[in-house]
Amino acid sequence: MSNQNQQVVLQLNKINKIFNPNTPLANHVLHDISLQVSRGELVALVGTSGSGKSTLLNVMGLLDVSSSGELYIQDHLTQGLSEQQRTQLRSESIGFVFQFHHLINAFSALENVLMPLMLRYGKPSKEQTEYAKYLLNEVGLSKFIYKPTNKLSGGQQQRVAIARALVSRPALVLADEPTGNLDTQTADEVFNLFERFNIEHQCAIVIVTHDPRLSARCPRTIRLDDGRIVYDGASVDLPTNFQAT
Ligand SMILES: Nc1ncnc2c1ncn2[C@@H]1O[C@H](COP(=O)(O)OP(=O)(O)OP(=O)(O)O)[C@@H](O)[C@H]1O
Ligand SMILES: [Mg+2]
Repeated sequence: MSNQNQQVVLQLNKINKIFNPNTPLANHVLHDISLQVSRGELVALVGTSGSGKSTLLNVMGLLDVSSSGELYIQDHLTQGLSEQQRTQLRSESIGFVFQFHHLINAFSALENVLMPLMLRYGKPSKEQTEYAKYLLNEVGLSKFIYKPTNKLSGGQQQRVAIARALVSRPALVLADEPTGNLDTQTADEVFNLFERFNIEHQCAIVIVTHDPRLSARCPRTIRLDDGRIVYDGASVDLPTNFQAT
């Protein structure tokens, strides 16, 4: 069964995740998670530490496999895909931004942004290089294109990581506490970029954040408690007892 609605970028039907199943260490972390994310949505994923946010994001991003349930990326049902097919779908459709940006220090900002394309296609084309430069310009780093990323500030490095996540024009961007390491002002600036790319490129974005100021800026919030969705709706209507994380 394929998902006919092209506007749906991500769909989860009753996803469960159990770490170390059938052992004394079995840990049932995600319980019957069902949700849909459409093109152009900006979604905050919130919940207390250990509630399963990163586990859910890793399953959504095909970095980890669920124990049961169905996951669609655009119109592809991902259960039953080979590891190679999962990798291809991931590199075509999904961009990641993590709390720790995982940039390659010795490489320039431009090389880091081009890395996902180089891993896929080899030497980048002129058009790809131009687009990477355009993105670095968009995130305010035009002066630092050729600078090794370990010579950049934390906020600048995170902006390189955002440009890198966007370089393959993904339909879905998944960000796990992308501003968790940054001061308030830099966090706001980085969040502005997500907002802008969400509007300009209509990519769907799911952002994990502990910062209620930032989740309030996402039109929709999904809240997890102990691996269950306890709220999924407009951020403005989020009950106040769900706001503290
Ligand atoms: N590889 C693993 N093996 C076993 N248990 C795991 C593994 N990864 C995560 N867990 C457990 O799953 C639960 C959810 O962890 P997860 O990292 O998803 O939480 P989180 O909501 O992202 O928390 P935080 O806000 O602290 O990042 C925790 O109880 C954690 O110990
Ligand atoms: Mg986490």
